[in-house]
Amino acid sequence: MADAILTDEINSMDIDARVESILSQMTLEEKAGQLNSVDASSPDPSGRLADDIRAGRVGAVLNQVELPEICKLQYLALEESRLGVPLLFSRDVIHGFNTVFPLPLGQAASWNPGLVREAARIAAAEAAATGVRWTFAPMVDISRDPRWGRIAESLGEDPHLASVLGAAMVEGFQGEELSAPGSIAACVKHFAGYGASEGGRDYAATSIPDNEMRNVYLPPFKAALKAGAATFMTSFGDIDGVPATGNDYLINGVLRGEMGFDGLMISDWDSIGQLIVHGFCENPEEAARIAAQAGVDMDMMSSAFVDHLPALVRQGLVSEALLDEMARRVLTLKFALGVIDDPYADIHRGGAPAPADALSLAHKAAVESLVLLKNEGGVLPLDFSEIDNLAVIGPLADQPVEQMGTWVFDGRAERSITPLSAVRSALGDQAQLHFAPGLTHSRDNSQTGFADAAAAARASDAVILCLGEEAILSGEAHCRADITLPGAQLDLAKTIRAAGKPVIAVILAGRPLALTHIEPYFDALIYAWHPGNMGGPAIADVISGAANPSGKLPVSFPKSVGQIPIHYNRKNSGRPAEPDKVIAIEDVPVGAPQTSLGMSSFHLDDGYEPFYPFGFGLSYSKFAYGHIQISAQSIAPGEPLELAIDITNSGDRDGVEIVQLYIRDRAASLTRPVRELKAFQRVELPAGESRTVRFVLTDADLAFSRRDKSFGAEPGGFDVWIGGDSQADAHAAFELCARSAAG
Ligand code: BGC
Repeated sequence: MADAILTDEINSMDIDARVESILSQMTLEEKAGQLNSVDASSPDPSGRLADDIRAGRVGAVLNQVELPEICKLQYLALEESRLGVPLLFSRDVIHGFNTVFPLPLGQAASWNPGLVREAARIAAAEAAATGVRWTFAPMVDISRDPRWGRIAESLGEDPHLASVLGAAMVEGFQGEELSAPGSIAACVKHFAGYGASEGGRDYAATSIPDNEMRNVYLPPFKAALKAGAATFMTSFGDIDGVPATGNDYLINGVLRGEMGFDGLMISDWDSIGQLIVHGFCENPEEAARIAAQAGVDMDMMSSAFVDHLPALVRQGLVSEALLDEMARRVLTLKFALGVIDDPYADIHRGGAPAPADALSLAHKAAVESLVLLKNEGGVLPLDFSEIDNLAVIGPLADQPVEQMGTWVFDGRAERSITPLSAVRSALGDQAQLHFAPGLTHSRDNSQTGFADAAAAARASDAVILCLGEEAILSGEAHCRADITLPGAQLDLAKTIRAAGKPVIAVILAGRPLALTHIEPYFDALIYAWHPGNMGGPAIADVISGAANPSGKLPVSFPKSVGQIPIHYNRKNSGRPAEPDKVIAIEDVPVGAPQTSLGMSSFHLDDGYEPFYPFGFGLSYSKFAYGHIQISAQSIAPGEPLELAIDITNSGDRDGVEIVQLYIRDRAASLTRPVRELKAFQRVELPAGESRTVRFVLTDADLAFSRRDKSFGAEPGGFDVWIGGDSQADAHAAFELCARSAAG
């Protein structure tokens, strides 16, 4: 039976005092036990983990979401361990829990922080209702490599967009108060630079110079911290020879020292044990010591902390003060979440939202995540009332599981509405729908279904062709070297095209795919990512015109794998490419002299532009931009610069435009990108109306991390562009003046 750790006297104290009171009663083993996070996904977890929980060797449990089992595990900790400290239950709640929202990368295409916050809020409430109080999200790793399967889980390539949306996710998960019903702790991951793994191969080493780490990879972590993120997770990566989980410079130095993070840092799954595999530590004792001293507080799944920290403290190799600090962070989090005061609380008070409410938000999120990439001849929207026969073809047209995407352990496929069934309902009885998958799954190479698919196309007025990747082809450890559509999908597209009907392609995928060879076979192209449970209705809405698309790409689409990494915020280099300097390989004369090829930075076979640029996305409205009006030619530090631009919706449909503002710092002590997103606004604009959209910049928006690690803006000339994508051409320029001697 547990000793009473919380007497009435202790209960009346503040959290810090209560934490100290518990700590003072703990043995070294019990302190180390708090740092141990174990998996409860295999059968009979309460039987398997009972002895360790009773012995106080477990602080947190991941991957258990069954209410009776959670109660059994919690009972063991509360009633049968010496001190009765409750367990903390965690889960990867990445883009929904029971209700599945679009992949994070799809949510990022909405450029809508309010929506992203709300989706996280619903996911948190659903998870909390089962007793899960800690999610391992958001993942804010900047991702510039679509081969990397985890790009699906990311918020894209841009530090500013990922900062805004990552912060929104933190706010959504955590709510106003961590202890409030329906709130769960966020865990910002993977600290840091995981997305830069070599060759887009998961877990591979990364090579990130400090300038790039600070100016590209760290800003979203900083923003998530500012939003109040309670916990962080290390990365599996090896950064310049020092694995992230043993990286004292990054965790203690940058995150805790410079950024001021005082919360809990958890390792990634067995990443403390993997310090040995990396060749960074000799044995588990050393791995435990190095990770603890680098700033990791909790050990996910290696057991190195619980097994070795007590002895390391006794031997004087790790200080007891450090062990106390680590355990203190775990206990403080448990108090902040209300887990210590009311360990079963959220099981009965979580109040998961009604599935209908959750699904209606999932529907909205899916609509806003869709990006219209092509609409030749205005083939879309399709007026369903004028259609007599419509074909729905493709291996992803009717796959309730696949459309949910990766990381959906708790997702309810029975809540999914597929494109096929949504189009069928939208079409009603007045038209005939011809369905033929063509291929059984995205990797299918057999063409036996092609004849039926071609017949369906021929019998119809138009074709909706649902192609893409199954969910299993992206996500953790699911990387691809070839990012074209797998299987015989290109051949299927050619076959369907040959039927001569308008082809509306919908691509459901976990990453940007290389579409160069297949796109010419489509009249219209909607990029749907993996859109979650309500992907079908969202797709039907956009195709029929019930919704006007507004999504914009959160990541550049390469023409080919050979272009990777390709991102809009590249450096200019000393010999930047320009349109008239690019020579195509077929135009290079045989025997041409070496110096004849333009001498600038491009590929002979793919130029230097992506297939689709960052920020791009079409609408059924037409947005025309005027000139930028700028309030001053120069500003002093601290002074606001006001920018305004008139935007007209010259189309005949009400629409939403994501207005984007980019800058360039022309010359600085470190070279700066050719463009950097600094602000954006969602502007709702009725047909035929104009609006003046205003932005304000100050020198704080122009700041970057410099060679001496100081953060600030440098005087000099800046360019600014405002428009509907990263190639926006409305331009202005201004000067940032030096700070006066008086300051
Ligand atoms: C992933 C983390 C995840 C953890 C727990 C690891 O393999 O890298 O992102 O949170 O597993 O499931």
